[in-house]
Amino acid sequence: MSRSLATIPLLLLLVYKASAALPIIPVNGTCQSICGAIPVKYPFGTGFGCGHPAFSRYIKCNFGTLQFSTGTGIYTISSIDYPSSTVTITDPFMSNCSSMQNSGSFRLDEASPFTVTKENIFVLLGCSTTSPVFDPQEDLCDTGSGSRVCRGLYYCKGVIGIGLPRNAPTSTCCVYDSPSGLDSGYNLDLPNLQCSSYSTIYEFGDEGDPMKWKYGILLQYNDSYYPDNCKNCEDSGGLCGFNSLNESFACICRNGVNTTNNCYGREYAWSGTTGLKIQTMLTIGEFLLSCMLFMRCR
Ligand SMILES: *[C@@H]1O[C@H](CO)[C@@H](O)[C@H](O)[C@H]1NC(C)=O
Ligand SMILES: *[C@@H]1O[C@H](CO)[C@@H](O)[C@H](O)[C@H]1NC(C)=O
Ligand SMILES: *[C@@H]1O[C@H](CO)[C@@H](O)[C@H](O)[C@H]1NC(C)=O
Ligand SMILES: *[C@@H]1O[C@H](CO)[C@@H](O)[C@H](O)[C@H]1NC(C)=O
Ligand SMILES: *[C@@H]1O[C@H](CO)[C@@H](O)[C@H](O)[C@H]1NC(C)=O
Repeated sequence: MSRSLATIPLLLLLVYKASAALPIIPVNGTCQSICGAIPVKYPFGTGFGCGHPAFSRYIKCNFGTLQFSTGTGIYTISSIDYPSSTVTITDPFMSNCSSMQNSGSFRLDEASPFTVTKENIFVLLGCSTTSPVFDPQEDLCDTGSGSRVCRGLYYCKGVIGIGLPRNAPTSTCCVYDSPSGLDSGYNLDLPNLQCSSYSTIYEFGDEGDPMKWKYGILLQYNDSYYPDNCKNCEDSGGLCGFNSLNESFACICRNGVNTTNNCYGREYAWSGTTGLKIQTMLTIGEFLLSCMLFMRCR
């Protein structure tokens, strides 16, 4: 049996192994699969042309920080839970127990693929007593269990940050039931509501201690944006994105080449050292194998 014929299947195995190892090679080009410590998967993308176009104007990776933008500001994404299709964002001007300050408004437009989940408790802090939220006709504040949340927050030392003494009367605090509900869009317009700050709690645990509550806004995203061609692209080692001119699907391969379908057959279009390394690996591998099989090491 000739040496070259016998080694063909083994060589194929080696080629296969080399291509399976490719995903650990850093991705160049505009799209990345991670931002800071947060894995970024479809429908999200790290930059323009990455992920699904409906998400692209809301999400981007900025120097290792995954950001969420709305008309009211830029928020930091602290985590993404893919199985439950939820994203947790934090507003740098939002109050929590350790630090309270004047906040901006928070608005999520109706057309976005995100909604505010019902787990979120929005608490308005430092409101004027003439605020429309205290209109007895409107019933906008939860005065039942909500008053415990207000007492908890006004007990925090951070409350001095909004000019209140610790344990101030909670008559300027409101656990807000938005009149429009949470179904589509959300609008917390602080100047209009005459409140100086807000805090959002998405998890209390079983904790009575407001220092241990989880502060941030939990958003649900529409997960029905995963096209079949994206699975095919990901299986071939690519990242799904879109063409910036017509927003049609694009598969962005790890060498930066983008295609309309997948990256099969394009993985060896490596330039420079990476391609050379694979070539060298194959050559060494071939030598070692024929060496082992045919005892021809010299
Ligand atoms: C990828 O990007 C890094 C840093 O931006 C650069 O040093 C490296 O040469 C690039 N690799 C390729 C294959 O273009
Ligand atoms: C796709 O390729 C085009 C042309 O090479 C380039 O202008 C564009 O930035 C690429 N898109 C992405 C997301 O890399
Ligand atoms: C409280 O808010 C401050 C200021 O925004 C932030 O630096 C801090 O990490 C927050 N703490 C918690 C527990 O969320
Ligand atoms: C989710 O997005 C799809 C389009 O991709 C749309 O048809 C559907 O109505 C959306 N679902 C919700 C709950 O908004
Ligand atoms: C979008 O543009 C790309 C490249 O210019 C082209 O290949 C593709 O067919 C276009 N898609 C649509 C739906 O027009």
